[in-house]
Amino acid sequence: MNKFIETENERKEGQFLIDKSRTKLYRNQLGQFATPNELAIEILEETKYLLNPVSKINFLDPAIGSGSFFSAFLQVFEKDRIGESFGVDIDRDFSTLAENLWSNQGLKVINADFTKLNGIDAKADLLIANPPYVRHHHINEIDKKTLVDNAQSSLNIKVSALSGLYCHFLFHAHKFIKENGISVWLIPNEFLDVNYGVAVKQYLLNKVEVIRIHRFNPEIIKFSDALVSSTVLWFRNTKANLNNSIEFTFGDSITNPQKRTSIMQSSLNPKEKWSSIFQSGDLKQRNSKNPCIKDLFTIRRGIATGNNNFFILNENKIDHMQLPKIFFKPILPSPKLIDNTIIETDKDGNPCLTERFFVLNCDMSFSEIENKCHLLADYIKNGEQAGVSTGYICKNRNPWYSQEKRNAPLFVCNYIGRENSTKAFRFLLNKSQAIISNSYLGLYPKPFFYKLLESEPSLLDEILEMLNATPTLELINKGRVYGGGMYKLEPKELENVEIKLPVGFQKYVNPVKQLTLF
Ligand SMILES: C[S@@+](CC[C@H](N)C(=O)[O-])C[C@H]1O[C@@H](n2cnc3c(N)ncnc32)[C@H](O)[C@@H]1O
Repeated sequence: MNKFIETENERKEGQFLIDKSRTKLYRNQLGQFATPNELAIEILEETKYLLNPVSKINFLDPAIGSGSFFSAFLQVFEKDRIGESFGVDIDRDFSTLAENLWSNQGLKVINADFTKLNGIDAKADLLIANPPYVRHHHINEIDKKTLVDNAQSSLNIKVSALSGLYCHFLFHAHKFIKENGISVWLIPNEFLDVNYGVAVKQYLLNKVEVIRIHRFNPEIIKFSDALVSSTVLWFRNTKANLNNSIEFTFGDSITNPQKRTSIMQSSLNPKEKWSSIFQSGDLKQRNSKNPCIKDLFTIRRGIATGNNNFFILNENKIDHMQLPKIFFKPILPSPKLIDNTIIETDKDGNPCLTERFFVLNCDMSFSEIENKCHLLADYIKNGEQAGVSTGYICKNRNPWYSQEKRNAPLFVCNYIGRENSTKAFRFLLNKSQAIISNSYLGLYPKPFFYKLLESEPSLLDEILEMLNATPTLELINKGRVYGGGMYKLEPKELENVEIKLPVGFQKYVNPVKQLTLF
């Protein structure tokens, strides 16, 4: 990690120097606008779980530049998951820079025009690109004709001669992705509405399984101007089944979009404009009178620590480093490490689990910490030297090592499930004070329900049973399905899941007004 941050800083510097040495026209002609590394990390964080089934990931960036995506790949994925990695760039300065920076991390750089490459040694499990945004009139006529013909013969798609180079990149890249591999593209919005975009939409609807399309909010300029009119596209290289539903999100953040809607891939028309879809906001409306989880609970995703390896420590490590427990809060480990559906508590509010984990939870200024506990100050300093403080989440916090304030949720749900597992989603009753990371959704009882549970604690077991008895199909239908049978539920989606109240609960329910009685 440490090493990557250093190289990442060198990359930024190298990128800056090359950019500075070029005229604006030259950069426009080659579409040379780098992806901010924070954005590359955000995109890869969002991509990571899609690649869970792949143990060694072959990587390809067909327009590598200085390697912002490869840098993010190294930062987000564990070292032993990095497979064969390739980058291509037409520009010798960039390909040399990428080679110098990343070859010792296994990146093989090819200095070539990607659209003229026929293949490389290994197909990609992850093909990720911010392809050159070059308008068609900068593409020479002979190349343009070849690209149009190639798309026709290999994909049977009629591509307009007015297409920008990024469209040709997308079509040409198809044969470089493994079957079931994931492809991620940061491309201009234009294709959503313009005529030449029809071919792109035909490709997306007929040749692959689209997972998500995110559109940045043009009113919030988080990155450079070049990116405000951009879209991030995730798809899997497999033919979509009829039930595939595509998630359309909108906002300045990929992780926390302002709007979200899902549309069946089979119901989309490539000839229509798609940009208005992003405005349709909350999707799933309730059309049944049954109570929903949101009648009883508020749902919140667990905290994003900014770096779990640094902030979350197990008890032995904390003891070994002699860090005082008062600076830590208990946090539940990964769902895989929890066998029971009830997490009991000890007298201090810590969960009764074989291995216990704690998250650093300290808002004091650094000088105060230095005065009170030099061992913790050393730990924080080490984190800073390792680059933890400059991570996307940490650098936006003050102090960078503080955490979002959260109470322990009473119930939790691990919200990424697999179709072939016996239960795609699991609910746990958390009697401890442990908070959760973002691998869980937390269920916080609404005030009336909280009071009721306090006065009738025996209801807790019944509610747990009720949650776990929710038909998997109901959870799946309310959530979203990704290729490979991976299911995910967002907080809003879990809120809309219908529940069947336990028998013992009926006496608290006003038969006329349903739950509003409380
Ligand atoms: C938008 S930049 C992205 C760079 C880098 N991947 C990033 O995200 O920061 C596009 C890159 O594509 C390169 N490029 C332009 N035309 C190309 C082509 N025909 N084949 C390969 N690379 C090309 C440019 O030199 C530039 O480095």
